[in-house]
Amino acid sequence: MVHVSNPILIDREPYTPGLSREHVAGLTGLPLDAVAKLGSAENPFGASPLAQAAVADSLGILDIYPSWTNESLRRAIAARYGVAADQVVCGAGETEIIATLIRTFAAPGETVLMMEPCFPIYHIYTENDGRVPAYVPLGPDFALPIQAYIEQLRALRPAIAFITNPHSPSGHFMTEADIRQICDAAGDTLVVLDEAYIHFTETDGSIHLLPDYPNLIVLRTFSKVFGLAGLRVGFGVAASSIIWPLWNAKPTWNLGQAQLAGGVAALKDDVHVKRTVAMVAEMRGYVAQRFSGLHAFRMVPQSLANFFLVEILDTDRFDSTSIFEALLKRGVIVKDGSIFRGLGKRFLRVDVSLQRHMDRFVDALTEIEREGT
Ligand SMILES: Cc1ncc(COP(=O)(O)O)c(C=O)c1O
Repeated sequence: MVHVSNPILIDREPYTPGLSREHVAGLTGLPLDAVAKLGSAENPFGASPLAQAAVADSLGILDIYPSWTNESLRRAIAARYGVAADQVVCGAGETEIIATLIRTFAAPGETVLMMEPCFPIYHIYTENDGRVPAYVPLGPDFALPIQAYIEQLRALRPAIAFITNPHSPSGHFMTEADIRQICDAAGDTLVVLDEAYIHFTETDGSIHLLPDYPNLIVLRTFSKVFGLAGLRVGFGVAASSIIWPLWNAKPTWNLGQAQLAGGVAALKDDVHVKRTVAMVAEMRGYVAQRFSGLHAFRMVPQSLANFFLVEILDTDRFDSTSIFEALLKRGVIVKDGSIFRGLGKRFLRVDVSLQRHMDRFVDALTEIEREGT
């Protein structure tokens, strides 16, 4: 029998990302464009048009190995955010960077701190080679537990501490003062600040804090506001001393020519970004107002992301999996909250999207409330 390095790699269910539109169209008989895909926080306007054109232009150089240091994209990111190119690392989505950071900065047996619930990828990669996740639960109504987090930072002295702004799955926002307090308390712990959804908060995020904190790396993705989830591009910005060991640890040619070209072009696509952010801001208000007609469900308030949590109030009749499946039958894909460790069976995570998708979702919930699943 071939040896597997950690039994968890056999015993654990792999992470299941959101279902595809094709799968649900096949299940329901609905046409593809009638399916509301609200489970993966993608951009319903599609990929940045500038990125699409650049990816098409890159076809002529697919025979040539890309720069293994992702040079063109690092330079573009550095210029856009006012840092040096040796402060930037790129990856096949943030997911690859998160996995590489964990391998690089936490040895097996060491602790990685995170809030609970959080993006499951943090604890999945922590556990893979026998590192130890430690969790700080969110407070009532998903309040971010900043003081409790700082206490655990001091008590456990973890190798890495993940924070997410805005948080996933709640969409709640951490202030600059909160982030500074965490970095101040972290000492030699690497603080990984995941800003996958930062554009939707209509703030500039925290890259400007880097000169003050040599223990901070800020992560961003092209998967969300730029609409490039299918291209797989993300990046991290930090002091060059944090970036350097990642050159040894990352897969060598981790981004292809199309990814580099698409990322460089997307950074210039302010039109696509603005249009997407404006739609999300408007639709958050719209869907909140439509929720006032529901009684068995509540929208958890104060998300500044392009998703929000739905709380099931009538727990005698429903749980997150029965609602997830009832919505699927009606052509609506959401995220069953029970996939998030610590969230349980009372919540679903739903994307903020175009009005017709929001209407389809709320209409389906209204029908489920009235008629059952
Ligand atoms: C909080 C958070 N961070 C990172 C990611 C990963 O993004 P990427 O597509 O860049 O791997 C996601 C994706 O859903 C996310 O929710």
